[in-house]
Amino acid sequence: VLDNKYFESIIETNDEWIRTRTGISERRILENGATSDLAAGAIKDLLSSKNLSPEEIDVIIVATVTPDMFFPSTAALVQEKIGASNAWGFDLSAACSGFLFALQTGASLIESGKFKKVIVVGADKMSAIVDYTDRNTCILFGDAASAVLLEPTEDKNYGLIDSILRVDGNGKESLYMKGGGSLNPASEETIKNKMHYIYQDGKAVFKVAVKGMADVSVEMMDKHGLKGEDVAYLVPHQANLRIIDATASRMGVTKDKVMININKYGNTTAATIPLCLTEYYREGKVKKGDKLILAAFGAGYTWGSCYLVWSMD
Ligand code: UT7
Repeated sequence: VLDNKYFESIIETNDEWIRTRTGISERRILENGATSDLAAGAIKDLLSSKNLSPEEIDVIIVATVTPDMFFPSTAALVQEKIGASNAWGFDLSAACSGFLFALQTGASLIESGKFKKVIVVGADKMSAIVDYTDRNTCILFGDAASAVLLEPTEDKNYGLIDSILRVDGNGKESLYMKGGGSLNPASEETIKNKMHYIYQDGKAVFKVAVKGMADVSVEMMDKHGLKGEDVAYLVPHQANLRIIDATASRMGVTKDKVMININKYGNTTAATIPLCLTEYYREGKVKKGDKLILAAFGAGYTWGSCYLVWSMD
């Protein structure tokens, strides 16, 4: 666990700045291991809570921007680690919107009728790409994975009802990793220029994130005739508490109905939304029939909103 005091010891910052500007107090860092270890751990936990064996899984979708390596996919490594001998799977790259993009993809596979059990896991080891000398970014991110299981339902009133997803490459230079890919293959030069680290123009992203997340969420509510009071929870990507508050306020959702855990984990990229869902569900705070609006914004730019009705007791 890295708390804000730790950052006071390595960069010019302070606990008060971090808490008031971001809402973060702590973040978790994986010391040994990779993204596939985080993802495999989350899926094993999920399977044991559902009393399922790994052989029953049809598909594994790993939403991540920190794959163990370019190839093979993290999904392949996860498949081996959990022993899902009948599964196929792939990685999905949509940064902080990765879970929403993967959720829609997984739901479409279920709707095709061909697959019955799809695991969607949001997993990122952000500490692998964070420059711990850059105070603009290093205080923001943490490592995490969280997984959900998608299954068919006969009742069309439950599950993923709708999604509005967007991508706009105009944001490509506001939040990205410049080196290591086919554009700027890793070299002494790219390392020297710190191109293997995350770069973010925080102010630029902040502005478009507030607008983007709120716009699609309000569009979703209007489309389905939902008012703020109809929404049991807004489940927002956890990048900054001020972005979350602004989104909730535009949607007319009161603070008590916003899932928040950024204080404990920071921004864990693709993992934030399932991590919120898991924690609140396990604490008994989500019940069957609850209407949830999931919302995210991230690098690309990518953003979106999903409307789902919780189907478990
Ligand atoms: O998850 C993917 C999408 N990402 C996001 O949604 C993140 C969006 N952006 C943000 O959350 C915010 O922009 C940040 C939290 C990154 C920064 O907050 P801000 O209120 O936009 O601060 P700023 O960048 O405007 O910086 C204000 C001041 C600057 O000093 P000057 O230039 O005014 O003298 C920064 O140098 O705060 C300074 N600063 C810091 N001070 C203490 C920047 N980082 C720190 C720090 N500690 N860690």
